[in-house]
Amino acid sequence: MATSAEYDLGQYAFPRGWFAVANSREVGRKPVNLHYFGQELVIYRGESGRVVLLDTWCPHMGTKLGSGEHSATTTDPAFMEGDNIRCPFHAWRFGPDGKCNHIPYHDGPIPPGARVRSWPIEERYGIVFTWHDPEGLAPDFDLPLFEQWDDPSWVRWDGLEYLCDLKHPIEIFDNMSDVAHLGHLHGGHAVAYENAYDGHLMHQRQRSAVADDGSGLFDATYSTLAGYVGPGIAFGRFQEMAAVQIICVTPIEDGTCRLWQAAMIKSRSGVVDDTARQMRDQVSAMFGGGLLRDGEIWQTKRPAIHIMQLPSDGPFRQSRSWYSQFYNPRAQAAEIVARVAGVHYAKGWPPFTAQPQAVEA
Ligand code: FES
Ligand SMILES: [Fe+2]
Repeated sequence: MATSAEYDLGQYAFPRGWFAVANSREVGRKPVNLHYFGQELVIYRGESGRVVLLDTWCPHMGTKLGSGEHSATTTDPAFMEGDNIRCPFHAWRFGPDGKCNHIPYHDGPIPPGARVRSWPIEERYGIVFTWHDPEGLAPDFDLPLFEQWDDPSWVRWDGLEYLCDLKHPIEIFDNMSDVAHLGHLHGGHAVAYENAYDGHLMHQRQRSAVADDGSGLFDATYSTLAGYVGPGIAFGRFQEMAAVQIICVTPIEDGTCRLWQAAMIKSRSGVVDDTARQMRDQVSAMFGGGLLRDGEIWQTKRPAIHIMQLPSDGPFRQSRSWYSQFYNPRAQAAEIVARVAGVHYAKGWPPFTAQPQAVEA
């Protein structure tokens, strides 16, 4: 395992960005403890339906919020009143803003330090995302847009599928600029390839030739528009297959992370029925299986602190530069991106923008 500092990513151990922390269906009234960004957290759904994510250590005496199953507080209806949560030890009550708003045995003013951090939450696509920012600032970019989510002819994913826990997320991110592994690890055949960097967006555009395996899922060639929106969420749009994938990577400790994925497809009949759902599951399993081929490498490899990058490798170095913007103060991001902005190619692979005929020639 290597840390962000060992990869020389920047000033911060954990990057700025949106990250998945749970599936919507897993978050209910009963608080659950999570551990991400090297921190203990507690998540629950308030009475209003909003998801609340708080730092877990009670400022009174350090009790873990969300613990103490047999406490007289946690078995009392006042435990989870409205959108609040009470500490199981002395029943201090914290609001969704993280501020203590009631102490049952105290009638003076509540000390201003009686608060825990409340994390920004966006619940979308059946997933709960939080914004992590080492500078504590508000989000400066949005979650990716999956417009298919609201298209009635598309079969939505049913939450993220957990794949595995891995080492530093940069090794997963490298995959997005790794053209040479596509053929050798995945058995694909890329015929055009490019990466591009644009602010908080990183793109991978590729065209592959695939023999029809009789499943009816493939065309002779297919185009994939993939990329990252910040450091924690990747997308893949498989044009001919009419499929979309989301990949989420969330830091656990400095040097470890969690990997999830999910897929949506357009229903071949235009109707979302069991047949379409089955096809979605098949495609999702294929995507997940593809990622696990990378996963078994990532799990056992040693950290690639320096990549011996060949001209015919993808632009790893440039991608890592782009990625480092999230590990440094926001004020430096534009300057970091400016060093690599634009389109980058790998020797031997024609640009994605080239016509297929030109690619063959
Ligand atoms: S430790 Fe939380 S209320 Fe006392
Ligand atoms: Fe891969």
